[in-house]
Amino acid sequence: MNAHSPSLPGGTWALGDLTVTRFGYGAMQLAGPGVMGPPADRDGALAVLREAADLGITHIDTAGAYGPRVTNQLIREALHPYSQHIVTKVGAVRDQQGGWPPARRPEDLRRAVHENLDDLGLDSLDVVNLRIGSALGPQPGSLAEPFEALVELQRQGLIRHLGVSNVTAEQVAEAQAIAPIVCVQNLYNLAHREDDELIDELAGKGIAYVPFFPLGGFTPLQSTALSAVAARLGATPMSVALAWLLRRSPNILLIPGTSSVAHLRENVAGAGLSIPDEELAELDKIGR
Ligand SMILES: NC(=O)c1ccc[n+]([C@@H]2O[C@H](COP(=O)([O-])OP(=O)(O)OC[C@H]3O[C@@H](n4cnc5c(N)ncnc54)[C@H](OP(=O)(O)O)[C@@H]3O)[C@@H](O)[C@H]2O)c1
Repeated sequence: MNAHSPSLPGGTWALGDLTVTRFGYGAMQLAGPGVMGPPADRDGALAVLREAADLGITHIDTAGAYGPRVTNQLIREALHPYSQHIVTKVGAVRDQQGGWPPARRPEDLRRAVHENLDDLGLDSLDVVNLRIGSALGPQPGSLAEPFEALVELQRQGLIRHLGVSNVTAEQVAEAQAIAPIVCVQNLYNLAHREDDELIDELAGKGIAYVPFFPLGGFTPLQSTALSAVAARLGATPMSVALAWLLRRSPNILLIPGTSSVAHLRENVAGAGLSIPDEELAELDKIGR
């Protein structure tokens, strides 16, 4: 599969008929500050993507809203033609202030899917997540109209598989009643355990749960218990946080973000950490 590491921590998972490594890469950090505009170090951003490929990572998470469009164009430049599966999301655009206003009318979604296809250089998108809430949390309410619009684009052959993002458990159930989904992407990490029940329910159905902000996002995970466990295991808190997620449930796929080749390598190595039961029990108390 790759030159450096034949098996990444966690092995693989099937997103529908697409096999991906459970250790994936979240590309949001590759755009400029505030996820707007080009990166200061363009060559560095391309190097991170190529390193992900060299490490054998086959799951890349992105969105047309990153940059906007910048991140997808970098992914295409670094990796096309792809041996990875690219998972994108639609449902929000960017405004002049760097905000993420919703854009979920059928025509917005059609435009977003076509922009993703153009920027990524694809005829069909592997997985498209419909984003409903924001990074601050889900927003309750029906997702039927926008989700049905994506199902129609799937029927037209523009999308292979569907997922949902920033959603409540009720919205996940509503989507599943309309069409099959292969993944749910929500905020979850050692300190944010609101989706524990949903993760277990999805695991039983063979649906992936993809936590965003696995390392805390823009505010790195901080916890005395996490630091203590990490020190005892001779590891970094980030390694422990990633290894814990892989251990938490087999349907969890990692998409940690980084703009640094060194951090990417560290994260791959760190996620392979073995956490003894006693430490697991301590970690389990953090977000409860
Ligand atoms: N669905 C949604 O609404 C949504 C929202 C947010 C994110 N996402 C997706 O989730 C992915 C992951 O989220 P994220 O990137 O925001 O947060 P994250 O993975 O929790 O954390 C990324 C941050 O951690 C730092 N970092 C990573 N590895 C490190 C290491 N070994 N040592 C020190 N610092 C390290 C990065 O800085 P460096 O660049 O310096 O390494 C970056 O600031 C995104 O890339 C995106 O694809 C989705």
